[in-house]
Amino acid sequence: MPDKVLVTREIPAAGLRPLEGFDLTVLSEAPPEREELLEAAEGVAGVLSNVTEKIDAEFMDAAGEGLKVIANMAVGYDNIDVAAAKERGIAVTNTPGVLDETTADTAFMLLLAAARRLGESERTLRAGEWHWWGPKLFVGVDVWGKKLGIVGMGRIGQAVARRGKGFGMDIIYHNRSRKEDAENELDARYTDLEELLQTADFVSIHTPLTDETRHLIGAEELGKMKPTAVLVNTSRGPVVDEEALADALAEGRIFAAGLDVYEEEPKVHPKLLELENAVLAPHIGSGSRETRDGMAVLAAENVVAVLSGEKPKTPVDQ
Ligand code: GLV
Ligand code: GLV
Repeated sequence: MPDKVLVTREIPAAGLRPLEGFDLTVLSEAPPEREELLEAAEGVAGVLSNVTEKIDAEFMDAAGEGLKVIANMAVGYDNIDVAAAKERGIAVTNTPGVLDETTADTAFMLLLAAARRLGESERTLRAGEWHWWGPKLFVGVDVWGKKLGIVGMGRIGQAVARRGKGFGMDIIYHNRSRKEDAENELDARYTDLEELLQTADFVSIHTPLTDETRHLIGAEELGKMKPTAVLVNTSRGPVVDEEALADALAEGRIFAAGLDVYEEEPKVHPKLLELENAVLAPHIGSGSRETRDGMAVLAAENVVAVLSGEKPKTPVDQ
């Protein structure tokens, strides 16, 4: 009998092809209710999960002892209890590499839109309230030639830095460890977080969500930023204290923010929704056709590898 494989959401067709030989269950387009997810877990050997599903000990126990692999269709895997999986001998995989450039595009899109007030000006135009060209109308801040501070200089952070380089920006970064490659390739300079916040014109966050990075950017950190600075977050919402950010934006203590992720998705802090200087995207960081295909295929190939007794292609650090 073929192994049972659960795909927790509808995914691009390209990702289902490698799974054709299995006894496959694909849940709906919307995130499944918890009950439905736990029921569907019963007896599965492999799971292709998404960031919307909490894959914890309860889920693993509902699946039973046959569960061998959890393949997240994302680079972040804070939705998975990796320690619980390790205890049970279950492999956990993610999709690094295939989404770096697309997510970096998203970060740069938000950076440009926030700097040049695209959200606010487009809303005005669509409302029929654009009456004339004005010397002082929708005046933003320059991006080119400014200082870009990258928090988390992994693959995505470096891809954003390369974009900044193309805009003639000066690159500084903060990371757990020094990245000599990036320093050589991009003339990126390592700083502590404090100096980065105090001197960068643009701060773009690219850290995973861990106990150490939760609320890494709060009131105190925002207070160190320049009043002309822009904050961009395409990593995970809880890395930024949303309430503190909304207050800083409302009081003009920083110029603007571009956000793709939120503390309690799909909820967005009501104060943020009221602010003209917040550009708000609904977690579309990796959302290009090509990249979503690539993520789905890689996640599926990880399932196939483990269930065929091979090593997973992209295991997370367990
Ligand atoms: C999406 O948020 C991802 O982690 O890939
Ligand atoms: C504005 O539209 C300009 O041409 O400077």
